[in-house]
Amino acid sequence: IPNPGAAAVVPSETAKKVKIGIYFAMWWALNVVFNIYNKKVLNAYPFPWLTSTLSLACGSLIMFVSWAVRIAEPPKTDLEFWKALFPVAVAHTIGHVAATVSMSKVAVSFTHIIKSGEPAFSVLVSRFLLGETFPVPVYLSLIPIIGGCSLAALTELNFNMIGFMGAMISNLAFVFRNIFSKKGMKGKSVSGMNYYACLSILSLIILTPFAIAVEGPQMWAAGWEKAASQIGPQLLWWMAAQSVFYHLYNQVSYMSLDEISPLTFSVGNTMKRISVIVSSIIIFQTPVQPINALGAAIAIFADKKNTEIASPLPFDVLLFMDWFYISR
Ligand code: 3PG
Repeated sequence: IPNPGAAAVVPSETAKKVKIGIYFAMWWALNVVFNIYNKKVLNAYPFPWLTSTLSLACGSLIMFVSWAVRIAEPPKTDLEFWKALFPVAVAHTIGHVAATVSMSKVAVSFTHIIKSGEPAFSVLVSRFLLGETFPVPVYLSLIPIIGGCSLAALTELNFNMIGFMGAMISNLAFVFRNIFSKKGMKGKSVSGMNYYACLSILSLIILTPFAIAVEGPQMWAAGWEKAASQIGPQLLWWMAAQSVFYHLYNQVSYMSLDEISPLTFSVGNTMKRISVIVSSIIIFQTPVQPINALGAAIAIFADKKNTEIASPLPFDVLLFMDWFYISR
């Protein structure tokens, strides 16, 4: 018997699946482009505090213009919203600067291998600071994550302690960002895109005085003369590209959070690191030893497993449930 409703349901479910697929593809692609331009800038002009500030400034500007010309509806926020956002913005700022400082000292691939340990930090912070407990396999999966990251760090040809610590601090800061973010977002009706916009604006306000204190206009000007004479005007384009792509990849990732569960988001984020690691190794011709690649592969595989078993359902089932949930 023909079901007149079925025809209407199937395309809308398919459309939503396609939409999530597009979000993921855009998120990963934008992230790869950001990482490449960011590293090109940092190689030529090593001022990570300035480049971090510019990324946030560019994102804030894009959003102010979008709100002014009504491409995006401005969010309705109150003082409570900004108060709840403050700790999230502090953590976002620390995590962002720390990752950029890391990438100014070591290969992009190495920063992201260490950053693939973020779920391990998440489990440890949730266990020891929040008293949350997890099934035993979640704790067991920490062994290959930490072991894989350690193996990759110990065999990294261009190891640098600031680069390593920067990625570790970024991991810790982003775990707190996610914890505060979840608390802050309860019951709020700001969309993912506007939530990220407000986060950028507040982070920019927090970061600017620190960037001036740590590096400052004199260092920036002196460094600029040298870098511009070596690279030429395209350095400006690289800076613009890293700033715009930083905002876009984050905006798309926060928009996807409106559609998928945080768990699927985490798995997506880990898978994203594979594309960044592989593409940056190819583009920057980073020397990699087989044992180093093995460490990274163990960490990332265990990372994905950890995220899956944090919930008792396999990844595909989770994805299906997300689609089912959003297609209702
Ligand atoms: C940053 O500069 O904020 C980091 O590169 C962020 O890394 P992630 O979004 O891949 O965790």
